[in-house]
Amino acid sequence: MFYFLTILALVLAVLGTLIIVVLGVAGAYLIVVGRFMRTSPPVPSSGRVKDAMLQDAVTLLEAQQNLTVVDLGSGWGTLLLPLARKFPQHRFIGYELARLPYFISRWRARKLANLQFARQDFFTADLVNADVVFCFLLPTAMQQCQEKIVPQLQAGAVLYANRFALPNIAPLRWKSFGSAYETYYVYRF
Ligand SMILES: C[S@@+](CC[C@H](N)C(=O)[O-])C[C@H]1O[C@@H](n2cnc3c(N)ncnc32)[C@H](O)[C@@H]1O
Repeated sequence: MFYFLTILALVLAVLGTLIIVVLGVAGAYLIVVGRFMRTSPPVPSSGRVKDAMLQDAVTLLEAQQNLTVVDLGSGWGTLLLPLARKFPQHRFIGYELARLPYFISRWRARKLANLQFARQDFFTADLVNADVVFCFLLPTAMQQCQEKIVPQLQAGAVLYANRFALPNIAPLRWKSFGSAYETYYVYRF
């Protein structure tokens, strides 16, 4: 019994240390990337907002054929991977500047012919053919999107903005789960 408790305590101590180290490294990575790149850190969409936004997009993608779906700052591929798996008839493109999320998302997409990730600043991308656009960016970047991305989009294009809205354009609708941090906005141009 004594041995069993000692081993259990050791295992728990090792596991606890590992969890703290992993969380510490992940946190430091997010802070460093966010600070040095001066862009949104690669925090993925998550929880109820992610699920609702994806479900909303699924309804749209089910109703049409041959759409081009773009994620502006695609992070780890959290939004595009499940959609690309579900809709082989649509084309998906993610633009991501941070190396680690970019390489991981590319690896995760290796078997999906309809999904591409580009290590590129999305402000330099040609978005005139985008039908559906996702973004989860800081307010400063949303202001820039309003000035540089929105004018490029074709009539009828739909934009989903997680958490931060376009500053001066009224959304078609929005869905909130209680706080501004759990809200997404839908625009149709
Ligand atoms: C908050 S994360 C969102 C990731 C993903 N869209 C999601 O919802 O799960 C924002 C991502 O945008 C990337 N990003 C910010 N500005 C960018 C730019 N100009 N070009 C490409 N990627 C950018 C960041 O590196 C970060 O990974």
